[in-house]
Amino acid sequence: MRILVLHGPNLNLLGKREPVIYGTLTLEEINSQLSVLASEIGCALVILQSNSEGSLIDAIQASSANFDGILINPAAYTHTSIAIRDALSAVGLPFVEVHLSNIHAREVFRQKSFTAPIAIGQICGFGVQSYLLGLRALYSALVKSKYVE
Ligand code: DQA
Repeated sequence: MRILVLHGPNLNLLGKREPVIYGTLTLEEINSQLSVLASEIGCALVILQSNSEGSLIDAIQASSANFDGILINPAAYTHTSIAIRDALSAVGLPFVEVHLSNIHAREVFRQKSFTAPIAIGQICGFGVQSYLLGLRALYSALVKSKYVE
């Protein structure tokens, strides 16, 4: 089982970026917690962070041959990017959307997600646990879909 983990813009600043909202863990620390969980449950991760919408789209487009699913925090592109939604839709891999903060409890412009309607589900508001719960949820959905096939 191979899962692509995508982190969107400004998530490279985690640790220093608005710690009251996003916590004090760095992206490297989140990635290492994800890697520990991935080896526990038995899946392989490839992890990419990009501040560029085009690079995220390129990674999504290239994912179909090499991955079973995508765990994505599109960050601010969640609320703006029809292009990322279209890429996810075109590729058709099952994906779970995660956010560190509870986007539904924040500014109105953050309450809209272009990607959530085509995701298996969205997990937000739990800090690093959103990622870990998201990985578990994606993994079990993928196992279930392979078993059912
Ligand atoms: C975020 C929430 C977004 O609204 C914001 O633009 C981010 C991070 C989160 O993980 O809480 O960059 O996706």
